[in-house]
Amino acid sequence: MRRLVVVSNRVEVAGKKQAGAGGLAVSIQSALEAHGGLWFGWSGEHAAKTSGRVKTHSVENVTYATLDLSTKDYDQYYLGYANRAIWPAFHYRLDRMKFHREDYEGYQRVNARFAEKLVPMLQDDDLIWIHDFHLIPLASELRRRSVKQPIGFFLHIPFPVPEILTALPGHQELVKELCAYDVVGFQTEIDLHAFHSYIEREVQGQVLSNGIVKANGHSFFAGAFPVGIYVENVSALTKDSKNSATAKKMAESLHERPMIIGVDRLDYSKGIMARFHAFEHLLEASPELQEKCLTLIQIAPLSRSKVKEYRELRESISTAAGRINGRFSEYNWVPIRYINHGFKRRTVLGFFRASQVGLVTPLRDGMNLVAKEYVAAQDPENPGVLVLSKFAGAAHELDGHSLTVNPYNTEEIADAMKQALAMPLDERKTRWSGMMKTLRRNDITAWREKFIGALQEAPYSAY
Ligand code: G6P
Repeated sequence: MRRLVVVSNRVEVAGKKQAGAGGLAVSIQSALEAHGGLWFGWSGEHAAKTSGRVKTHSVENVTYATLDLSTKDYDQYYLGYANRAIWPAFHYRLDRMKFHREDYEGYQRVNARFAEKLVPMLQDDDLIWIHDFHLIPLASELRRRSVKQPIGFFLHIPFPVPEILTALPGHQELVKELCAYDVVGFQTEIDLHAFHSYIEREVQGQVLSNGIVKANGHSFFAGAFPVGIYVENVSALTKDSKNSATAKKMAESLHERPMIIGVDRLDYSKGIMARFHAFEHLLEASPELQEKCLTLIQIAPLSRSKVKEYRELRESISTAAGRINGRFSEYNWVPIRYINHGFKRRTVLGFFRASQVGLVTPLRDGMNLVAKEYVAAQDPENPGVLVLSKFAGAAHELDGHSLTVNPYNTEEIADAMKQALAMPLDERKTRWSGMMKTLRRNDITAWREKFIGALQEAPYSAY
């Protein structure tokens, strides 16, 4: 088996779980544990001056190699172009996009540094798999340094339609850099289609029926590889949540009252504000749910707090939670339990199992693994209902079984919550089994094997 070299901005060293880590860390971890290999990226640390040394650490079959960033790099590459320009633009939030030329230069500079540090660690037979929007230029930088091994790229977030993407300064270079890979993977057919449109309209490239794209003088494979979850692992951890004192105490604190749960990094793409408004609307329109002391638990670990837009979001969401709670709370009931820190995975899965509704309503999301984990954590004899945004990648697989909503329509979300809370057991079971079938078919192994399979076929230059 060829060695797998994974590169991502954030590296999650086994056993050092960071609160608020997104789906990327979870999926790479499971893919690498199964295959073994090297995981290279940023340590998460930054300082005015850094040694520039790559630190390595091995746990079983995985070697973790990390490097620190200088404060300037952190500001320009991570906070700047990646999180203030690409992230909002790719999530269709041009109103939140901020562009500065020096941020873009920092982004290119850090990608060049990653390449320079990675090259000496590579072996001839490696397969190189690069992840997410922070590292789009990395293949070009590696090729510039004569790296010949197959290089694939997987985008965990949405890929916007050309009308949106062309508003991002630097879009021409980003797409050119994507075309330097051998395989480019997206979460859904919608993202793939948006990429194809850009290729055909903006760079006059060619999209062949077998998935090969010819553009910028290079042929490569572009496809949809929906990321899945490790179903058995989620089930085992959920069973183990019975031993979690926190999960037990949480269930006791509800006194068998109905509960809805949301778990998201505190990010404006997640639609938490609209969700709170929907919950308020539901309570207002349904006095019987107030009598039943319906509770919404929203777990929202802080994320990217150095970015102004995220700090402002924190303010406005806390204010909304406080206002709604002030309006409906009783001496023995607080309707929204709003929590800004993360919990251990098995505890969250225990919370999922104790809830009647999983509320996953991002305004835009690449996939959203919370939706999939919510389903896999349910009790088959008494499953909860998933209310899912149509703009989450997961909706492309789970629609028809989840209650799919428009996350901008707060009344529709409120209706879906009401429908979910009243749903008969038979219907809940049917919907749940439908979703489980999909989760098992498109699990994390299928994702990894499909992507690595495509990478092994490289180069595609003969097409
Ligand atoms: C999303 C992105 C990941 C990122 C994660 C957490 O899931 O796709 O690449 O790691 O958010 O964000 P952070 O900025 O803390 O790495």
